[in-house]
Amino acid sequence: MQSDIRRTLLDMFTNSEDEYVSGQKISDMLGCSRTAVWKHIEDLRKEGYELEAVRKKGYRIVQKPDKVSENELRLGLHTSRIGQSIHYEETVDSTQKIAHRLAQEGTVEGTVVVAEEQTAGRGRLDRAWYSPKHTGVWMSIILRPSLPPQRAPQLTLMAAVAVAQAIQEVTAISPDIKWPNDILINGKKTVGILTEMQADSDRIHSVIIGLGINVNQQKEHFAPAIQDIATSLKLETGREINRALLMQTIFLKLEQLYDEYLANGFKLIKLLWEAYAVSIGKHIIARTLSGTIEGFAKGITDDGVLLLEDAHGNMHQIHSADIELARR
Ligand code: BTN
Repeated sequence: MQSDIRRTLLDMFTNSEDEYVSGQKISDMLGCSRTAVWKHIEDLRKEGYELEAVRKKGYRIVQKPDKVSENELRLGLHTSRIGQSIHYEETVDSTQKIAHRLAQEGTVEGTVVVAEEQTAGRGRLDRAWYSPKHTGVWMSIILRPSLPPQRAPQLTLMAAVAVAQAIQEVTAISPDIKWPNDILINGKKTVGILTEMQADSDRIHSVIIGLGINVNQQKEHFAPAIQDIATSLKLETGREINRALLMQTIFLKLEQLYDEYLANGFKLIKLLWEAYAVSIGKHIIARTLSGTIEGFAKGITDDGVLLLEDAHGNMHQIHSADIELARR
């Protein structure tokens, strides 16, 4: 099926939500015969869409294929920027790498790079991120805020809040955020966020928010070494989660928070982040690249930096670290 016909058809179904779209309306919109409409509907079915056809009413989509390609993400998307431009591939080394290239080439703000599988997914602190086929959400979102680079950590916390809100809406589970932006359910890591930027000394050119979300993995999909510390939304809810719906919900929450951030600054985002945070007000161990510090997590600064008070009363500003709750 030609991609412009497919897009018009899917947009029609999106705009009519759960209502039936008549064959006549489709044929008028596409400027084709009723027989051609039937053929286009058959083509969508071959692509994995489940369509209901009711005499005298028309057609309605009841189920989308479990893919996260542009078509699936477009149907039912209610944003104006984030996710309006989608770069989809079945297999990539890292969506982060592609997003860096697109950002350099001047792609529009809100562009999303998504893949079904990554062969060289990257995590924070130079770790690898395991990203098996069709089970999770592996994507990178490009923002272009006109801000000084020191404010980039705030966008990381904003992304964590957006993902936590989306998980809550789609699964009814309220997750926790461990500073800066690991999302945990029942103490186990469900989402990792890697924020990188392209900037010069006084201005951000682009921020690339990489999200790795464990969605439909079973326990045995995780390597034995992480089976006790990682989980998926399916393991926690007992049901398969629609990845496209989760992504669309993230796009919407992120767009709303980003608009709030650009209009009014970090204040509200900070409050929302603190409401999800588990590591604040506790004794923690922070493992940074330059050493380990143990102390009391006092809170975060307005720049999103973690404040840690050690046993001698010295206050440390932690910009990047792995956090663990201290046993006391
Ligand atoms: C972490 O270490 O917690 C962050 C993990 C971030 C993984 C995501 S998956 C999509 C994007 N592409 C990558 O290579 N990494 C990020």
